[in-house]
Amino acid sequence: MNQNEIIKDFPLLQNRKIAYLDSGATTQKPVQVIDAIDKFYENNNANPHRGAYSLSIEATEQYENTRTKIANFINAKHREEIIFSKNATESLNLIAYSYGLDNLKKDDEIVLSIMEHHSNLVPWQKVSKTTGAKLNYMYMNDQFELSDEEIESKITDKTKIVGITHVSNVLGTINNVEKIIKYAHKKGAIVIVDASQSIPHMEIDVQKLNADFLVFSGHKMLAPLGIGVLYGKKELLNKMNPFLMGGDMIEYVYEQDTTFAPLPNKFEAGTQNVEGVVGLGAAIDYINKIGYDKIAEIEKEVVEYAREKLSSLDFITLYMTPNKENHQAVISFNINGVHPHDVASILDNYGVCVRSGNHCAQPLMRFLGIDSTCRASFYFYNTKEDIEKLVEALKKAYDMFKKYM
Ligand code: ALA
Repeated sequence: MNQNEIIKDFPLLQNRKIAYLDSGATTQKPVQVIDAIDKFYENNNANPHRGAYSLSIEATEQYENTRTKIANFINAKHREEIIFSKNATESLNLIAYSYGLDNLKKDDEIVLSIMEHHSNLVPWQKVSKTTGAKLNYMYMNDQFELSDEEIESKITDKTKIVGITHVSNVLGTINNVEKIIKYAHKKGAIVIVDASQSIPHMEIDVQKLNADFLVFSGHKMLAPLGIGVLYGKKELLNKMNPFLMGGDMIEYVYEQDTTFAPLPNKFEAGTQNVEGVVGLGAAIDYINKIGYDKIAEIEKEVVEYAREKLSSLDFITLYMTPNKENHQAVISFNINGVHPHDVASILDNYGVCVRSGNHCAQPLMRFLGIDSTCRASFYFYNTKEDIEKLVEALKKAYDMFKKYM
């Protein structure tokens, strides 16, 4: 499929004449995903695991077949290692509550990178405050990367948990998670990988990575909002207590006590977001149809073009690594002296959608000595014309503001 054919699959991109440069926040959805959800409601809607009648069995099959599809997609060893959640945030909270609170004690250490999204940071503050474990950070160098020395000096024999984003949602830095996982395991720590910003763009193999836990949100990879995934090694998930309690996660319930269902149901309390699961299955089919190689080929061209064009603007500061092989799909920038919200509003007037703010990464902003940035983030439906629109709109915004500088 060439890019023109791909773009035709995205109704919103046909209906709105915009340069959508905020896929890091959420991606647009192809018609195949929208249709899969419609078809589910038109033909198969019932509550999975609840009915002995054939419609409920069909809904169960769609739900459970998608679990198998996801297990294959990330090469999990067992399908029950895939737990459905609301989003990456809920998956990370599940790990913090069900693993962190029960396994950490005073003087243990949790190590995070300073580029974590709040979702992989605030839950660990709760664990740290409750257990007395210490929260330490790996800081990046002046190339916006985590050096091997930094990794090796922060992960120690006291470290029990390492939380690391695979790709920074602000900087686009691709972290060396392979190295971090190997090193952390040598020190006896487990590693949680936040793959929210990586899995839309690159193949993930959890067995090859040897990640203990890995999380992502469906909506950043073409699926609907409100569906997320937690992958965890079976031996860890089996030992953990449930996070949410209620229907479908139980085995026997007595007046005073309950035994819990085996994996994966133990972690899926209550009626689930089945339409989200069905949509996520269709999103995976779509990504497989395009292929990660093609996705990477398109994005490489567009992101390199964006790096080059934005670097030529002398009135902006860029926050990205000079090593393009360690950089993916996200570029943060500021027009010097202008608030990013003002810049984003002006870009909007020219039909360019970028996110502005702290991007749920306040500690990173503080480390950079700024409050906020504008952020353009890309996906395989973005074109060089989108970048040209962005650059032209930035020039207009600068012209507008320069008289006040
Ligand atoms: N976490 C999403 C982002 O980075 C919302 O924009």
